Amino acid sequence: MLDQIKKLRAEVAQYPVKNPEELETFRLKFIARKGAIAALFTELRHREPTERKTAGRLLNALKAMAQERFKTLARQLSTPSQANPDWAQADLTLPPLTDALGTLHPLTIVKARIIALLERIGFNMAEGPEIEDDWHNFGALNFPPNHPARDMLDTFFVAQGRDSVLRTHTSSVQIRMAERQQPPIRIISAGRVYRHETISARAHCTFQQVEGCYINRDVSFAELKQTLLYFVKGLFGADSKIRLRPSYFPFTEPSTEVDMSCQSCNSQGCSLCKHTGWVEIMGAGMVDPKVLQNCHIDPATYTGFAFGMGLERIAMLLYQVPDLRLFMENDVRFLKQFTTYA
Ligand code: PHE
Repeated sequence: MLDQIKKLRAEVAQYPVKNPEELETFRLKFIARKGAIAALFTELRHREPTERKTAGRLLNALKAMAQERFKTLARQLSTPSQANPDWAQADLTLPPLTDALGTLHPLTIVKARIIALLERIGFNMAEGPEIEDDWHNFGALNFPPNHPARDMLDTFFVAQGRDSVLRTHTSSVQIRMAERQQPPIRIISAGRVYRHETISARAHCTFQQVEGCYINRDVSFAELKQTLLYFVKGLFGADSKIRLRPSYFPFTEPSTEVDMSCQSCNSQGCSLCKHTGWVEIMGAGMVDPKVLQNCHIDPATYTGFAFGMGLERIAMLLYQVPDLRLFMENDVRFLKQFTTYA
């Protein structure tokens, strides 16, 4: 009996196991209820008590050893070995998965282009608060107290009193700058503005504006026109033309609406330009003398021009985006089409 146990012990220790199938054979052969070790336990019952005692102890040790070996082998087989690592099964010809690189928001790209263009002709960036008082948003800009733009329908009032509003345009920044320094002043103000408008493909309650303002001695309307032409050609291409239509803003006199030749149909007439060959891109005009006075600038010595545009509208025209809301929704399928990286 003791010999049998010894032999079985050697067999258990050396039995070759290289894969899960062989491990299962090992289990059935030695450890299972009908295996070799169990068979010896059955036999033990028929032996003399003295033999039973020593053989029983050895047999128990053998059983523990076999179970231990089974566990060790099972562990080894479930972790990939050096000889057969995971990457051995991988397709090394596949292209690598790179980290996705973020792109700049299309409005950020267009804003940077506009600012770069205007900086080249001497304009400097200026910033101001988005929550404005009535004076900087309306009063100094020559809006009479009962002007409809101050109406609830256009303006978001921040507090109970009517003196605190979300700025409806970035012209307020120009007032702040003009109050602080004497001409020459040549500034761009860019930023978010708010208007109480129904959200649609062409309008939103919040959008961004870029405005320019130049105040100096002898600033003429001809200079405004050339500046606008330079700007439009720089942004939309050298073939672009502009057309000025008389208009009205409380803070400019004369005032004009600026149209650009339609890029989409080469001025032939299409649905975008409503078959006129022209699309409206901004408002402009000569700074009203009253506005200069409000900023303590002498209108007898200085004149100025100003222009302002909606950034989304410019971006829509540049990229032919049909719906303004796409710029606010941050859908990456839309955003990743603009491939200028930060
Ligand atoms: N502030 C005007 C607007 O918000 C745009 C503008 C700016 C018009 C400067 C003329 C001169 O519509």
